[in-house]
Amino acid sequence: MNRNMGTIKVASPSFQESSQNAVGRASMMGIPSTQFSRPTFLMCSPEWYEVRYVINPWMAGNIRRSNRDTAFEQWKGLYTTLKDIGDVRLLQSRPNSPDMTFIAHGALINYGLAALSSFTNPERKPEEVHLRRWLEDAGFLPWQARHGISFEGEGDAMFSPEGDRLWVAHGPRTSPLSHQHLARGWQVEVSSLRLVDPRFFHLDTCFAPLHGGYVLYFPGAFDTSSLQKIESAYPPDRRIAISEAEAVQFGCNAINVGADVILHAAPSSSVPSRLRDAGYRVAELQLGEFIKAGGSAKSLVLRLSDLAVTHRACP
Ligand code: ARG
Repeated sequence: MNRNMGTIKVASPSFQESSQNAVGRASMMGIPSTQFSRPTFLMCSPEWYEVRYVINPWMAGNIRRSNRDTAFEQWKGLYTTLKDIGDVRLLQSRPNSPDMTFIAHGALINYGLAALSSFTNPERKPEEVHLRRWLEDAGFLPWQARHGISFEGEGDAMFSPEGDRLWVAHGPRTSPLSHQHLARGWQVEVSSLRLVDPRFFHLDTCFAPLHGGYVLYFPGAFDTSSLQKIESAYPPDRRIAISEAEAVQFGCNAINVGADVILHAAPSSSVPSRLRDAGYRVAELQLGEFIKAGGSAKSLVLRLSDLAVTHRACP
């Protein structure tokens, strides 16, 4: 693993002007850069959800310990909350993919381009084809890294809400080789972050750049140089650094849509009140059934609308 991954800068002045990159190609093919006029998300019901294997430390000890009815009730709570903020589309769940409800890990989307995941673990690979088909049918241009390069979508890659920077992690799931591919797709500056704690195996478990210039993060999940990158991008009064106790309750696994934040209701966490102090409207939902498999709010939702549309609704 390359431990010295820095910031990948891409020279092209604007993706609209370049015919070399995927977004440029998408616009040449007539694929509209913005397909939605409201914040729009994709979800996948937990109809077949269960902890059936162990591919992250959270799943150990939880094999077949999740309850599907409770999971469905919790997922419905998230679906309903999100529907109050934007539109939600659905992808049909599949019996042989018990983790498919964690749809955020299947792709990363912006400007009509969908960087498709290539899962590290064979257990999740069967999910790939279904999401690819849905996204192609919906008119997105698929952008797939070379065979053998692991990438896990929004699990490990997040745009800054302004869209000028792409934060991408490398660690247990996503290969650093995917970072250049993403930089080329969107002609965006990529900041590579290295994950060092197996409990925080995806970037969405320990980092959330928020609309309005704040960042929610757990410092213990990163190596020193990654931490420096985060801290040089955000001044101290814009950093909401959370404790380990809060991080293991998925305090960073938050959905952000403009001024709204949705996250798991964790007992005695200071995260919701700190977010409210910073001006966000916070919805706390019970999502404990999904924590048994290592995921929470953010992991259950894939953003489809462009960033500008997604965050526009905010007051
Ligand atoms: N069991 C899923 C996996 O290991 C859960 C993913 C939840 N991920 C997350 N980023 N919180 O892939």
